[in-house]
Amino acid sequence: MTPKIEKGLSCTMDENGCCIVPDDKNQLDWAYWDNQWAAGQTGWDIGYVAPALKEWFDSINNKSADILIPGCGNAHEAEYLLNKGFNNITVIDIAPSAVRILKEKFKNRDGLRIIEGDFFKHEGEYDIIVEQTFFCALDPSLRENYCQQMAKLLKKDGILGGLLFDRTFEKGPPFGGCKCEYTPVFHKSGLEVVEMNITNGSIPERMGTELFFKSRSN
Ligand SMILES: C[S@@+](CC[C@H](N)C(=O)[O-])C[C@H]1O[C@@H](n2cnc3c(N)ncnc32)[C@H](O)[C@@H]1O
Repeated sequence: MTPKIEKGLSCTMDENGCCIVPDDKNQLDWAYWDNQWAAGQTGWDIGYVAPALKEWFDSINNKSADILIPGCGNAHEAEYLLNKGFNNITVIDIAPSAVRILKEKFKNRDGLRIIEGDFFKHEGEYDIIVEQTFFCALDPSLRENYCQQMAKLLKKDGILGGLLFDRTFEKGPPFGGCKCEYTPVFHKSGLEVVEMNITNGSIPERMGTELFFKSRSN
């Protein structure tokens, strides 16, 4: 089935029912993502916090840590963190339709800043940045920029962590890869990969195909 897409984009769903694949990857801009949201094509959304992230969050003692969740979508991670008492969370998404949903969902919650904007233009200083299906949503040509921007946004010894796919996809998004591709790009930007291993904290549908990682800014 080809979903109805506005703004002249010509797209088809991928075999995972995840993203609508654009004919031209240069179209992965705010309008592309906004159309995904407007068309209700959010097959990437697992609906809750992945077990590996939950375990990591449960190990963090500093509830006032500055936390950023870029490309946050429905921000299930933010909801979990707020419920655990974390009080300094920022989420950012480029799609206005996603941000509208977020503002409604979190309207009476303190401790959360919701930003509509481009991660690559965002400014700030964070102790922790959470990765959950944002890296894989970006064209691979942006991976170095992603790591540089992460390094810029992290305080010294700040941690970027989360989940990355350890598999390839025929077309993207999502764009996959492997540890051997990811680590050199992280290291080049000054992000020391302290951990990057296949996790058993994936959701059943992704079990065995995800790496849980932590990288430290130096
Ligand atoms: C595959 S979805 C993942 C959403 C969420 N992290 C999840 O796992 O459910 C990617 C999200 O990143 C957002 N996005 C894409 N490019 C972005 C950018 N440059 N800056 C901020 N958000 C972006 C999209 O609007 C979309 O909501």
